[in-house]
Amino acid sequence: MRRTIPFAEVAQHNCAGDCWVVIHGRVYDLTEFLGVHPGGSEIILKYAGGDASAAFAGVHPPDIVAMLADNAFLGEVSGGDGRASLEPDSQENKKSVGSDFRVRKGDSTGEEVPATGPSIKKMLRLADFEEAAISRMPREALGYITSGANDEITLRENRVAWNRLWLRPRVLVDVTSVDASSRILGFKSSMPVYISATAVNGLAHPGGEVLVTRAAHAAGVIHMLPTLSSRTLEEMTAARHPDQVQFYQLYVSSDRQRAADMVRCAEVAGCKALFITVDVPVPGRRETDMRCKGVAATLAGTTVASSATFYDPKLSWADIAWFRSITTMPIVLKGIQAGEDAVQALHLGVDGIVVSNHGGRQLDGTRSTVQVLAEVMEALRSLPGRSKMEVFVDGGIRRGTDIFKALALGAKAVGIGRPVLYGLGAFGQDGVEQVLHLLGEELRTCMALMGTPTLADIKPNLIVSDHRRCYCADEDAYQQSKL
Ligand SMILES: Cc1cc2nc3c(=O)[nH]c(=O)nc-3n(C[C@H](O)[C@H](O)[C@H](O)COP(=O)(O)O)c2cc1C
Repeated sequence: MRRTIPFAEVAQHNCAGDCWVVIHGRVYDLTEFLGVHPGGSEIILKYAGGDASAAFAGVHPPDIVAMLADNAFLGEVSGGDGRASLEPDSQENKKSVGSDFRVRKGDSTGEEVPATGPSIKKMLRLADFEEAAISRMPREALGYITSGANDEITLRENRVAWNRLWLRPRVLVDVTSVDASSRILGFKSSMPVYISATAVNGLAHPGGEVLVTRAAHAAGVIHMLPTLSSRTLEEMTAARHPDQVQFYQLYVSSDRQRAADMVRCAEVAGCKALFITVDVPVPGRRETDMRCKGVAATLAGTTVASSATFYDPKLSWADIAWFRSITTMPIVLKGIQAGEDAVQALHLGVDGIVVSNHGGRQLDGTRSTVQVLAEVMEALRSLPGRSKMEVFVDGGIRRGTDIFKALALGAKAVGIGRPVLYGLGAFGQDGVEQVLHLLGEELRTCMALMGTPTLADIKPNLIVSDHRRCYCADEDAYQQSKL
């Protein structure tokens, strides 16, 4: 029975074993939810027995608690300071202007501090944005974004593996005009790059996903909206330009009705493709993130967290056919790491797969995505229907040359994760635009220097994996080449 709860009563439930919080005037018992909160329990415990509205508003959309912890709702609060405003954070329109940009302090107060660190004019490469983000963003947000799983072996490998491929340029080709424009699942993109879904962008900037979508439009690329967004689906899709395309990333809820509702809402809101994340049956153990938050080891990244309704350890191949039956959006499986699974996806008739290890955040010790991409392309190579399924890749892509290498291996496009968040956190919308601008410039320069004026000219024989072996257009030689 839901009731009006005096604030003084809320205040008594103020510890890990008994944790009530007020969010926008509503009281929730989050004791059970503590163990499965993706952001860790500590941040919730800060507000145990109190009002978390201000902290909550910066990083979560208003409807998320109802969605994820509905049975935790106890009633409306009365008295005390539990009646925080329902108004969403109004800071989204703040755009950065070089060193004048100011960032929020911490993830809770909404307070602003003068920005420190270099100006956006000094950002010459994506790595510069990471450095700028480190000097400008709060430690907790950085911990969440930078973190990989465990020893972060896969996280590092994702990055360095691109450097083990070498380019084999051809000369005396007319490259007066270089065209990197592309189609992704049939939708136009200024280059073969899309912004991959990353959760809670509000940690990087109060404007969160809304600013990312605007930057994506300015750069002519597609934004994949995350399930676990800081802004509501309505806000994210309302920020879309009429000509703009957005995709939707889905974490499959163990409550299939809820999953179906989310898919329907995304489709009705105009999202053009459904990327189902398949590499999170349970969340990875992200120790850098845990350390930054001071999270107790027993609470995050363990099987306790697997009971969360937004990840489902039961998700299996049989569910994919069901998704096909509930949506007309193209379906893409995000998180493929073996040739056999790529073949299975092809047999099920999905429209695409993303070779991804979730940016090294899930299972540490898995191979780099560039290495898996080679295996996947090889496994799919001569299968019937192969051309109907697009293959994407993400993980550690930081240079135009990395994009070129991915395309030469057979990827249709690449996804970008962290650099967008570093751009957003350090410089707001301008930062994201600049990240995308640099990638486009680098790709076009690479194409010119490689003698490939169009994407169709990019072939496997233009890269070599080491000094001896070569990816050749010739099928047999290609087959023998291994990373
Ligand atoms: C902070 C952060 C949050 C992420 N959140 C999600 C998510 O909610 N859903 C998802 O499918 N992938 C998520 N990813 C993975 C990205 O979509 C992408 O696979 C990965 O970031 C690519 O690697 P990169 O960061 O090296 O570019 C996240 C990655 C990061 C870094």
